[in-house]
Amino acid sequence: MNDTRSTDVLIIGAGLAAMATALSLPSHLQIDMLCKGLAHECASAWAQGGIAAVLDPADSIEAHVNDTLIAGAHVNDADAVRDILAQAPAAIAWLIEHGVAFDLQDDGRTLHLTREGGHSHRRIAHVKDRTGLAVHEALLRACRTRGNIRIHESHAAIQLLHAHADSVNTCFGAWVRLPDGQAVPWRAGHTVLATGGLGQLFSRSTNPWTATGDGVAMAARAGCGVRDMEFVQFHPTALQIDGRAAGLITEAMRGEGALLRLPSGERFMPRHDARAELAPRDIVSRAIYAEMQQGGLTHVLLDITHQPREWLAAHFPCVMHLCASHGIDIATQPIPVAPCAHYACGGVRAKVDGSTDLRHLHAVGEVACTGLHGANRLASNSLLECVVMGRAAAKTIATASVTTAATRVTAAPPSVLWTGSMASAPSDLAQHSPIAQVLAHLMDECVGIRRNQQGLSQTARQISAWRKMLGGSDPALSNRLEACSLIVDAALQRTQSCGAHARTGAETIAQNRSEIEMT
Ligand code: FAD
Ligand code: SIN
Repeated sequence: MNDTRSTDVLIIGAGLAAMATALSLPSHLQIDMLCKGLAHECASAWAQGGIAAVLDPADSIEAHVNDTLIAGAHVNDADAVRDILAQAPAAIAWLIEHGVAFDLQDDGRTLHLTREGGHSHRRIAHVKDRTGLAVHEALLRACRTRGNIRIHESHAAIQLLHAHADSVNTCFGAWVRLPDGQAVPWRAGHTVLATGGLGQLFSRSTNPWTATGDGVAMAARAGCGVRDMEFVQFHPTALQIDGRAAGLITEAMRGEGALLRLPSGERFMPRHDARAELAPRDIVSRAIYAEMQQGGLTHVLLDITHQPREWLAAHFPCVMHLCASHGIDIATQPIPVAPCAHYACGGVRAKVDGSTDLRHLHAVGEVACTGLHGANRLASNSLLECVVMGRAAAKTIATASVTTAATRVTAAPPSVLWTGSMASAPSDLAQHSPIAQVLAHLMDECVGIRRNQQGLSQTARQISAWRKMLGGSDPALSNRLEACSLIVDAALQRTQSCGAHARTGAETIAQNRSEIEMT
């Protein structure tokens, strides 16, 4: 029999949502935080643009709410939108308390705010173009000083432990694959899913390798509701080098005046939307895709050469460095860019405090779906959501316990601690398996920026054949297939185009987006 671990709170993930939860929990609780790879291998550490919050007296929460609803095609949960955005200034203050040094204006006191697509005001707090790294490093430092938080690198959760207790589907922890490949049950009073997104299910993505939809797959299999899975956001400007996505070029560049051009030099966004380069992300991605299709192009160009070199070096040092490493001098040359998979607007159905359909299971950050993002996330609302949800989840966990966590752990029915197939979980993380690679290409081709009935059905059939063939023999690959299947099924069910879900030949629900789109 495998050895069994136990803890008060098991947090699956070590990105921003996970750390905001861990740091907000009381110090008498033992917290074990798992990450699939190394601690910095997460989307949070890669974030560039910044964090949206109303911090300028000329701005208002109502304007931020309105921009979020417009970007989300009004299929957002308006209560969640208001709740989360109202907490944004406090979230920024909390990050500052934890050591994040946001960029300041020349007065040395007021935060410098940048702008991104879909925002009607400058409201993005940032640390140059490496906001995520600055935030992640500060919080990781804080976690490492806390005696009650243990971080376990290269520990991958593969399945949730759950069973009915008092007739309620209850989570008791997770099966975890240790670095030596052995799988062990890790029991917990509370389990928090903070596994991030799923961009790596597609062959072209801005996401780190860890983002393969494990959390949403595990939760759905355990009986949790999921929502909005069809709304996968494609970022308009991933750097294109030799036909592959080689990193992100932040939207803040368009916020600071960068223009999208065809190879001829012609600017094309004004033909697609009155907001041009600053239209919501799904609109810009589709416009680029249409131009690429029409012109037989592998990419378009992002041009910021109007800004002086010194200004670029001060504002976008990471992008400058990334491009220079590929021989592109952004002060004199336009940047080759194309859209690719970036963000999961959907996920595990959750309240703002992360509570889900399973008792004692919380979902926070990108893996969760509160309805904040609707059909298309407004830029820089995601890091914000991680902080707000993490802090709220911690509060609920800390106050909910009538029974102590330790009592609940011992009360876990023995049946949840044994699932035969988990005992021999392969150490392969599935990312290099031939099925995962073919699957990722299929997702790009058939479940990408434009989808149709035939491609979606073909993908669904192929996924189902692979699932039958594999059975439960490879949990990591099964999680990928499960997550893809959730996206494809949701995309098949939504027969009209809406936000990031664009079905060729289908009617578009415009829903007050201020621009009616052509399909
Ligand atoms: P992550 O930070 O991705 O962390 C997920 C964690 O879960 C990782 O530690 C991972 O190892 C772990 N994990 C995954 N599966 C398992 C498993 N099975 N077992 C154990 N651990 C597991 N948003 C903004 O608001 N502003 C921005 O400027 C911005 N820029 C971005 C730039 C890039 C390049 C990318 C990719 C995203 C950007 N986003 C931005 C989106 C934002 O970064 C993410 O939505 C957010 O960081 C998600 O945080 P998270 O904590 O939910 O997940
Ligand atoms: C970016 O900097 O363009 C990414 C911002 C985001 O994903 O919110």
